[in-house]
This record gives sequence, C-alpha cells and structure tokens, in this order.
Amino acid sequence: MKRIAVLTSGGDAPGMNAAIRAIVRFALFNKIEVFGVEAGYDGLIDNKIFQMNHRSVSNIIGRGGTILKTARSPRFLTASGQAKAVKTLKERGIDGLIVIGGNGSYRGAHILSEKWGIRCIGAPGTIDNDLAGTDFTIGFNTAVNTALDAIDKIRDTATSMERIYVVEVMGRTSGHIALLAALSGGAEDVLLPGRIVNINNICDDVKKGHRAGKVSWIIVVAEGAAGAVDVAAKIMKKTRFDARPVVLGHIQRGGVPSAIDRILGTRLGVSAVEFLMAGDTDKAVGIISGKITAVDLLYACGEKKGEFEGLYNLIKILR
Ligand code: F6P
Repeated sequence: MKRIAVLTSGGDAPGMNAAIRAIVRFALFNKIEVFGVEAGYDGLIDNKIFQMNHRSVSNIIGRGGTILKTARSPRFLTASGQAKAVKTLKERGIDGLIVIGGNGSYRGAHILSEKWGIRCIGAPGTIDNDLAGTDFTIGFNTAVNTALDAIDKIRDTATSMERIYVVEVMGRTSGHIALLAALSGGAEDVLLPGRIVNINNICDDVKKGHRAGKVSWIIVVAEGAAGAVDVAAKIMKKTRFDARPVVLGHIQRGGVPSAIDRILGTRLGVSAVEFLMAGDTDKAVGIISGKITAVDLLYACGEKKGEFEGLYNLIKILR
C-alpha cells in the first residue's frame, strides 16, 4: 500500500474532520501517500483530487462539516460515472480508498470494490446512527447534543407559556436522535419510526396530564415517524391546547464536534487505514462495545439497527 485516497460523501457529520485528520496523519506516519477527493464521488468523476500533507489537516479536529466537502452523487449511480471515477483512481495510482459516509456512500464503496476491483474501506459518518457494525456513527453524539440544547431552550418557553411543543428531529428512518434527545431532555413523549403514531392516545395523555397539573408538554418526533406541523395541528384541534411545531432541521448537522465524535472519528480513521494496510476491502469499520471491528459494507448499510433497548418505555414512566 503506497497511496490511498479519502472522500466524504452524503450528509456531512460533525467529527468527519477528525477522521480525515487521523487518516492523513496515520497514513503519512506509515509512509503512505494520501490524496483528498473533493465533494465525494463527484470529485472522483471530475478528477478533483489533490495530495495532502501533515499541514493539510492542521486545526480541523474541532471544526464541523468536512474540509473535503461532500455531495450526494446521482452521476456515480451510472456505469459511465463509475468508469470515470475508477479512471481517476487508476491514473493517480491509488491503491485504496476510504469512504466516510452513510448508507448511500457505503453502497458506492461496495460497487467500487466488487465491480471495479478498487480496494475500499468505509468509515461510518452520519448523524443518523443507522449503520450496523458499530454502536455509534461519527456525528450522532453531537447531533443529539444539538437537539438536546434546542429542547432545553424550548422547555423554557413551554413552561413559561404553558404550551405543547412538537419538536421534529432528523434521522431518516432511524429514531436514534429522537429517542436519546427525548430521554435526555425529559420529553413527555417521543414518536419513533416503526411504532404506531396514535394521536388520540397522545391527546388523552395530554388532557390527563393537564388535569393533574402538567401544563407544558414536549413531544419529540423523528422525521421518519411523522411531521411536527401535522402532529401539532392535530393535537391542537383535538385538545384545544396551544400546540406549536418546531422543525430543528439542518442545525443538527453542524457545529463543533463533541469530544466523543472527535475520538470516534480519530479511532475509526486510524482503523480504516489499518484495514487497508492489512489488505482488506469491501469492509466497514466500527466500534462495538469498545472494540474495533469490521463488517461487510453491504451488511453495515443493509441490516436494520434496532432501538436502544428499554429506553422508549422509560420516557413515559419518568415523565
Ligand atoms: O443523513 C443525514 C441527514 O441529515 C438525514 O437525517 C436527513 O434526512 C437528510 O440527511 C437530509 O438530507 P439533505 O441535507 O440532503 O436534505
């Protein structure tokens, strides 16, 4: 292994820069040249690839986003796009590629590995925490903290004005951000993908709570379960209490990465290089119960990750 490349793809996630820094410096430490690809698979197709050195990753460990930029690349889904990407890698003499990203990015890396014979390792970079083969993905912890900070602030006004707030968080079809932000924010309810959303039950709970003196209410909604605007409107109509929707949106993707995400990015970046050096391909690195691991890329993005066990029920017990 003499030359590797790294790209970030899909939605950016805080901690991606820590992973890029670790990859570059650990590869250089092992006398491997490193190239950065701009804007994910698009950069491979468009030959936007540049050599990186120790200084290229100075002072980025604490920065959100990704210095390499990122994109979702419809062109890479086509055979001609893939052929152009492979040409770029071959022309530059790249022996291995590290792809930091989520589901779609892993599928791309699998195609490059299986169909085109490019040695590829994936590192889990997504706020959604929806990849198997790792307990947590890079960016998830920071996103939960961002959502929690917003919920704490909303709680202040909810209490002061005796309102119901329905707070929608990101996560695609995974409810992990919603569940942890709801639990840590002391939310009264959480709506998760894969669980039936019963507005009548929520309204009954709200009315019962109101009779018992609970006058503010925070309901966290995972984007894959329902829409906050719709849920708030229905609750308002049925209970006649003031219910307001808040859609947190892309603020959950940005910001200073937490220590946990910087450490996760660093450890997984180093591991990705190690797996490439060991001759592995078509694998995704992760950490399970504190131990570095690697699973097949398709397993990592195909296997449904369950809810955090036992936490859902706690929210209602503790409210
Ligand atoms: O995968 C990360 C994520 O932020 C999801 O939580 C969300 O559904 C999606 O990306 C939004 O994507 P985009 O920024 O392309 O609209």
